[in-house]
Amino acid sequence: MYQENYPQSFPAGFLWGGATAANQIEGAWNLAGKGLTTAEVVKKAVSRKKMSMDEVNQATLQEAIADHTTTSYPKRRGIDFYHHYAEDIKLFAEMGFKVYRFSIAWARILPHGDDEQPNQAGLAFYDRVLDELEKYQIQPLITLSHYEMPLDLTLKYNGWSDRRTIAAFNHYTKIVFKHFGKRVKYWLTFNEINTGTWGFHATGALDQDLPKQQQLQLRYQSLHHQLVASALATKQLHELYPADKIGCMLARMQTYPASPKPKDVRAAQLADQKNLFFTDVQVRGEYPAFMNRYFAENNLIIKMEANDQAILATYPVDFVSFSYYMTTVTESDQDGTTVGNMATGGRNPYLKESAWGWQIDPIGLRITLNEMWDRYQKPLFVVENGLGAQDKLVAGQVHDHYRIDYLRQHIVQMKEAIKDGVKLLGYTMWGPIDLISFSTSEMSKRYGFIYVDQDDQGRGTLKRIRKDSFYWYQKVIATNGADLSDNH
Ligand code: BG6
Repeated sequence: MYQENYPQSFPAGFLWGGATAANQIEGAWNLAGKGLTTAEVVKKAVSRKKMSMDEVNQATLQEAIADHTTTSYPKRRGIDFYHHYAEDIKLFAEMGFKVYRFSIAWARILPHGDDEQPNQAGLAFYDRVLDELEKYQIQPLITLSHYEMPLDLTLKYNGWSDRRTIAAFNHYTKIVFKHFGKRVKYWLTFNEINTGTWGFHATGALDQDLPKQQQLQLRYQSLHHQLVASALATKQLHELYPADKIGCMLARMQTYPASPKPKDVRAAQLADQKNLFFTDVQVRGEYPAFMNRYFAENNLIIKMEANDQAILATYPVDFVSFSYYMTTVTESDQDGTTVGNMATGGRNPYLKESAWGWQIDPIGLRITLNEMWDRYQKPLFVVENGLGAQDKLVAGQVHDHYRIDYLRQHIVQMKEAIKDGVKLLGYTMWGPIDLISFSTSEMSKRYGFIYVDQDDQGRGTLKRIRKDSFYWYQKVIATNGADLSDNH
């Protein structure tokens, strides 16, 4: 019957798994030839509600370079995945992961960012990771750049603000594709590309001392370079492995109008357009007119070379991925803002928030999935979603039912979106194993199904412990999302 002709649940082969980033887990920051990265010069935030990743300036940078310890720089130690990867992947396999999203640290492959020859020890490490994944038939999904650019490119070019970084990146991506391409089917270029408008962590460019307008100019120019580099990486991959799939990755922050006032609705629309601008370019291959207007009205001049537009138009991505943590509210004359690393927009009185002030909105995920599907008609992939919480280890156990509840509610809405007709490839929740927080560099903001015995000062045995949510996710995967109950 026609009425029943719509998907009822997660499709067979749905890619369930988890996601991490090299700089938040690997540690071994100065081992086996690895160069320093931009993530490893960032200190722990002074307060829970304050982000530390974009506070780097010339003075703090020099201080970090002179410091050869991990004490003040948690992303130098991660959770020592570098030495625990086999044990960790075994635990992922025990949960039944079909896919594991992780990033390659560019500076492990090219310590200075633009070395002619790759660091063999770096390639060998990721080969070992892939060996383990293959053992358990876990599909890798690799992010090529996840907030961890080689620091030497900051020192040499001021990061992505300089066009020469495009060539350095595409030299790195070519090496990586050639070396790992046969073993990897799914790739992502830049993690949350849109957060480059916030600064250093994504652009690798020091701009703290610039006036606001020049800062924005530098950030959008840096992002243009990333968009071109992303399209060129797509070209490289498809030339080498035509069947492989490469996607873009957006921090998707749906925003709602604060009221039905047309002015509020329009303000929310513009905020959303500025968020979706990046995927618009990566999927549709051109700068949308609304951004050209925004640039003109704000005196922002994006310098392009003759070929850039053709490159963007010729090499669009194969699929669209995004992180989803929260939604925000936009008001036409707004001053209140939400906190958290997605720091835009106002508070929504109908939503609860996490201890870090992130507004929890499972239905927003369904709305987002529908809108992204309508807009792009490309397969979608939810590559991050999760709850950062302060877990308590009591008698060797963590009863994290708040996490199960959070994830369950989001998975329910994903299922609804699939029934709405959205084509969804998979779901990699964020931080299946506790790791260092991106925005605050805390260890005590935990996302995992697996507890890691380490505190904010880096003290602990690094022992891995299964939380209650571990067994719950195992069941979710085993039933392909049919059984989401929490009967612990
Ligand atoms: C995303 C990032 O913004 O959110 C991850 O891609 C990050 O790197 C995740 O860890 C959660 O943010 P946080 O600040 O809680 O670690």
